[in-house]
Amino acid sequence: MSATHETDILLAAIAVVENRKSDPMTKYLTARATAETRPIHLVTKDGLKGWLKKQPVAVRRWVEASAFDAAAGRFTLLPDEKKGVGGVLAGIDDADMLWSCAALPAALPFGRYAIEGELSGEKASALALGWLLGTYRFDRYKSFDKDFSSLVWPKEADQQAVVAMAEGICLTRDLINTPAEDMGPAELAEAAKTLAKTHKARFKAVVGEDLLKKNYPSIHAVGRAAEKAPRLIDLKWGSKGPRITLVGKGVCFDSGGLDLKSSGGMKMMKKDMGGSAQVLGLASMIMASRLPVRLRVLIPAVENAVSGNAFRPLDVLDTRKGLTVEVGNTDAEGRLVLSDALTEACSESPDLLIDFATLTGAARVALGTDLPAMFCNDDAVAAMLLRHGETEGDPLWRMPLHKPYRQQLESKVADLCNISNGPYGGAITAALFLEHFVEGATPWVHFDIMAWNLGSRPGRPEGGESMGVRATFGMIKEFIAKA
Ligand code: BES
Ligand code: ZN
Ligand code: ZN
Repeated sequence: MSATHETDILLAAIAVVENRKSDPMTKYLTARATAETRPIHLVTKDGLKGWLKKQPVAVRRWVEASAFDAAAGRFTLLPDEKKGVGGVLAGIDDADMLWSCAALPAALPFGRYAIEGELSGEKASALALGWLLGTYRFDRYKSFDKDFSSLVWPKEADQQAVVAMAEGICLTRDLINTPAEDMGPAELAEAAKTLAKTHKARFKAVVGEDLLKKNYPSIHAVGRAAEKAPRLIDLKWGSKGPRITLVGKGVCFDSGGLDLKSSGGMKMMKKDMGGSAQVLGLASMIMASRLPVRLRVLIPAVENAVSGNAFRPLDVLDTRKGLTVEVGNTDAEGRLVLSDALTEACSESPDLLIDFATLTGAARVALGTDLPAMFCNDDAVAAMLLRHGETEGDPLWRMPLHKPYRQQLESKVADLCNISNGPYGGAITAALFLEHFVEGATPWVHFDIMAWNLGSRPGRPEGGESMGVRATFGMIKEFIAKA
């Protein structure tokens, strides 16, 4: 099978998973150059002088006159002998290849381009991924006239890996960007089922009243007030290698429940299934790359709604684990639904358990919106994650599971309260709440993420975002190799 044919199959799969209106974005990376393909010369700030020295006087004058300084993300068009566009000179940061060229597909005159010169495999792959992400837009409800320029695959790039990454990231973004009306628990389950079909994974879901029969009481309690039935989504794939289980918060809309959010606080809460969107994107990468793992994905999918049968402040809920939980605030619903999912995850004693959740506003106060808070009960896993965060350009920050704060979750009437008794350290106390439902010996990572870009940067438009997933994917590959 030729490389192009393989890519075509991957493209077809992307179209299915993403349910996109337009062609898959991977059409913007092409196999062949044409006679009209223009070269892109990459140059760093430090390398600009040397590059200019080797150019004809006319080019040198042109670049100097255009005040091009080779800052990452900047570019200038280069003239040919007939005063047409002969090529592009693009500024890059060697340490940030991923985003350095992400503005180009939208900004360059429409056409086909090719990178001039040699790149390392890593840099070529990063640049290619950045190019693809620079062509992402959420087009489910709106048509766009302007098309993007395409790039000839840099020959050193790992095409399979780049396509798998782009596919996963765009799946995550599309899921988050879709409004709650069209991305309720049922639609989220449908997206997981489609992904399962694409990769021949096993899919099941426990829906509505069955959650009570099968002992998922807290998922049911949080989701029971909504028109759209709550459910636990369960996907399994692979038959050899370490057991890796991913859990994602799937609150399709978080009104806050009876302790209702303010209008400002509620506005963006279609993104409260952002954790589930991360784990589906990550699962997509893992399955497309055929990593030798026994993968399981668990998503408690609910809408935290207000209705006559909504759970109330100071209700005491049962959990799958058997711990009783007093509800201090119905807006701390994520940890409730995750508790049952984590208990189920631990029943199979996975070798690695990773959850992603848009869990607390406090994590954003601590670290800002771009930096995922990472909690981990295993120093070796945490160190691997931080390292891959650096090398993948997917930064994250470790926060402590500080034991003495556990007492802040004590309740006078139940085993545990779902909120802490003070205003400080909210991301830590939320993580400590989750820790009650993780078997002590299970290596566990918890990500508290924003899952949203508040503004637009090249390759990272305002809206749903993949955060911590590329770092985790890199860590998982190393974890498997060491297992
Ligand atoms: N989904 C929110 C957390 C959130 C808000 C994440 C904004 C990202 C951006 C979560 O369910 C929630 O409302 N948490 C409360 C917990 C509090 C009631 C203890 C919070 O963070 O305020
Ligand atoms: Zn909430
Ligand atoms: Zn929430």
